Amino acid sequence: VALAGLGTAAVRGHLPALQRLQSEGRLTLAGAADPDASRRAVLSGELRGVPVFDSTEEMLATIRSDLLVIATEPSAHAALTLLGVRHRQHVLCEKPLTVAREHQTLVASAYAREPELGLVGVHQYRYSATWTSMSRFARLVDRLGMPFELVVDVQRNGTDPHAASPWRRDIGASGGMLADHGVHFLALGRTINDDFQVLHTLRAWHEDGERSVARVRFGTGVLELSVSARARARCTRAELHVAAFQLSWCDASVRLLVGRRTVARWRTDALSDRGHVDRLYLPLYRDLVEHLHEASWRKRHTAEALAVGAGLVALLELAAGHVAV
Ligand SMILES: NC(=O)c1ccc[n+]([C@@H]2O[C@H](COP(=O)([O-])OP(=O)(O)OC[C@H]3O[C@@H](n4cnc5c(N)ncnc54)[C@H](O)[C@@H]3O)[C@@H](O)[C@H]2O)c1
Repeated sequence: VALAGLGTAAVRGHLPALQRLQSEGRLTLAGAADPDASRRAVLSGELRGVPVFDSTEEMLATIRSDLLVIATEPSAHAALTLLGVRHRQHVLCEKPLTVAREHQTLVASAYAREPELGLVGVHQYRYSATWTSMSRFARLVDRLGMPFELVVDVQRNGTDPHAASPWRRDIGASGGMLADHGVHFLALGRTINDDFQVLHTLRAWHEDGERSVARVRFGTGVLELSVSARARARCTRAELHVAAFQLSWCDASVRLLVGRRTVARWRTDALSDRGHVDRLYLPLYRDLVEHLHEASWRKRHTAEALAVGAGLVALLELAAGHVAV
């Protein structure tokens, strides 16, 4: 494995999972790269024995690897993915794959020319146990042709303060919260039905951050997404509404309601808990290491990464035409 980008996502998500799987003899971290000398210095202890480069090009030209992991800010994703393809690498790319149509088109064309290479998006929320139950229920409802509504509300107090650089403040290059958080829920929606269509978006931003909404159809259901960087506290709520039933996952609490009556309630892991979403990198990597050699698995994941990427670009383009300031 070759790792590009040694920022927060690498430290909190990728490296712990890679090191764990390396200790189990499932993979070898063959090299890492970051143009920022301070990031290479911070991680020098962690990466002892691993060749570290100041350019991803040089890393791929020097080491032997099968998988390129891209953990950089989104503006570098497309160029690095294309670089990976030129070096015959499978690619695991952080979300969002791209936020611009020209990048999306270039990446899609590259995989159309190289159909045996795999592209996997870091959409790790699907490995959260509560989502697994929720999506199983939603898939059944969808197969029965019944309407459902998935209501998702992501509340944050400002943009991510932990990143190595402030790339999230540039809405054009980062896609803002709609890309940063919305893409996770597009990917989750696609685990219910891969037929989806962006119906509506409205984006508003103020000095203290963004508030946006989007509506996306998935099969017989609709995802109603709202994101805000102007909340007092972190909170992620996902509710599945089917006729009189409601499964409501709000932070660490899940409730099953019939009508307005709560008939069951239990504790779970929260998607607003960074520790939980960081730990989900391990099952994502386990799945990848176990299946990457299978052409059908690679094909399915490449199709998913490209479809979710294209859906996000469509959503952002629609949002650009519906901006309230
Ligand atoms: N899946 C998740 O839950 C999750 C969580 C956090 C971040 N992310 C994603 O991870 C990515 C990185 O976010 P972050 O918070 O770690 O950002 P960050 O700013 O902390 O780190 C990005 C790093 O990439 C390096 N970089 C830039 N261009 C490079 C290149 N061409 N080659 C190698 N390295 C390069 C930068 O120098 C920096 O060190 C983003 O796409 C973000 O959306 C995903």
